Formats: sequence, structure tokens, C-alpha cells
Amino acid sequence: MSDTQEREKLFRDFFGGSGDVMERFDAFQALMVQYDCAVREVRTKFEVLNEELTYRTSRNPIESISSRIKTPISIAGKLRRLGIEPTVDAIADNLNDVAGIRVICSFIDDIYSVAEMLAKQDDITVVQVKDYIRKPKLNGYRSYHMIVEVPVFFSEGKRLTRVEIQLRTVAMDFWASLEHQMKYKQDGADTPEIAAELKSCAETIAATDARMLGIRKRIEALREQKK
Ligand code: GTP
Ligand code: MG
Repeated sequence: MSDTQEREKLFRDFFGGSGDVMERFDAFQALMVQYDCAVREVRTKFEVLNEELTYRTSRNPIESISSRIKTPISIAGKLRRLGIEPTVDAIADNLNDVAGIRVICSFIDDIYSVAEMLAKQDDITVVQVKDYIRKPKLNGYRSYHMIVEVPVFFSEGKRLTRVEIQLRTVAMDFWASLEHQMKYKQDGADTPEIAAELKSCAETIAATDARMLGIRKRIEALREQKK
């Protein structure tokens, strides 16, 4: 099956219903193209910031960037969980995380600087911020989450598109990736002891992140003195 045929089958299975399926499939495809373009725009914005800051400060604030578009199955599953009829309009109206970008930064302060630099750009509207660094989740999860709206220019006009951005340090990403992997394999093995151990690991990692930032600042201060 080609990629498009596979998407079409998934679409029929989950968004089937009555009426002209193909017409709605076209609208769905257009919406996915829109999300893909929005992700590329926001990704480029981070890449530009990283290049400019690397040139200006001789240090790269961003280690890596990854992105993904939610699959039709996962979109349909989320709408179902929210109790929303799976229609194409419902996707754009209710889901903020169809388009997702993860920005892995070197140090904690880099997260706040690049987030602020993005938020200040005049074609970006910040819809929501969740600061799980200043206020970590109970399980120890740390990251800075933003939902932004970015214009995507199609032939018929401008479409404002939502993108979920997760900013974290390399260390926070290490914890979140492993915790995510283990969460899916728990099968009832998530005891309070395991949860406490994971949380303790998150705290050790956070303390190390803070020490690494401290070391960088000391080195910068020493360099300043020598000037
Ligand atoms: P979702 O419905 O899952 O999208 O969550 P939400 O709408 O409440 O948003 P939130 O900002 O809390 O989380 C969004 C995303 O952050 C998730 O889809 C994960 O990718 C990530 N995330 C949030 N909490 C955790 C966590 O405890 N562990 C890990 N590994 N990732 C998390
Ligand atoms: Mg999500």
C-alpha cells in the first residue's frame, strides 16, 4: 500500500461515518499538510536562533531539534478519549498537539532565552505555557511546554496553526525518554517504590543540571576577568 492509500484506509476506519468520505479525506490531507508546514516554520525559527547565537556567543544553546505530526490513529484516539465526534474540523478546534516540536537545549537558562526569543517574534502568538521546570510534575517530569500559533500561507490565504513545543535540557530529555519507555512496559508493575525511585532520579538529574549551569557561569566570569 502506498503512503496515501494507507492514510486513506486509516481515515476511513476512524473518520468513516456517512457522507462523502473522499471530500473529508481531502480536507484531512490539507490539514496535515498545514501542520507539516507549521512545524517546518517553527523548526526553522529555532535553527535560525541557534545559528545566530552560536555565531554571536561561540556556544550553541540548542543541542538538537526533533518534530513529529500525530498519526491519524492517535488523532482519532485522542478525540475519542475527549468524547468529541471525530471530524476534520474537530481536530483543528480541539487538539493542540497534532504538530509537535522538541527542542533539546544545552543549559537550563538556554531554554528560557530561546523560548522568550521565539515568543517575541511578531508572527508567533503564545497560546499557553506550562513550566514544568519551575513547577515539576509530581512524578518528577521537567520540561517547558508552549503552545503557539503560527500563520501558514496557503494559496487561498492565511491559516493560523497550533504547534506544541517542548523545551528541555539534554539531562531532562534523558529522564523523560527512559521514563516514557518504561511507562509503556509497566503492566501493573508501577509500585510506589518504583515511582519514588524515578522521582529521586529526576531530582538528581535536576541538581546536576543546576551544577553544570553553575560551572558554565564560573568559567564565563573567569573569562570576563581576564579580558
Ligand atoms: P497530553 O494529552 O498527553 O498531550 O497532555 P496535556 O494536554 O495534559 O499536556 P502536557 O503539556 O501536560 O503534556 C504534553 C506532552 O508532554 C505529553 O504528550 C508528553 O510528550 C510530555 N509529557 C507530559 N508529562 C510527561 C511525563 O510525565 N513523562 C514523560 N516522559 N513525558 C511527559
Ligand atoms: Mg500530547
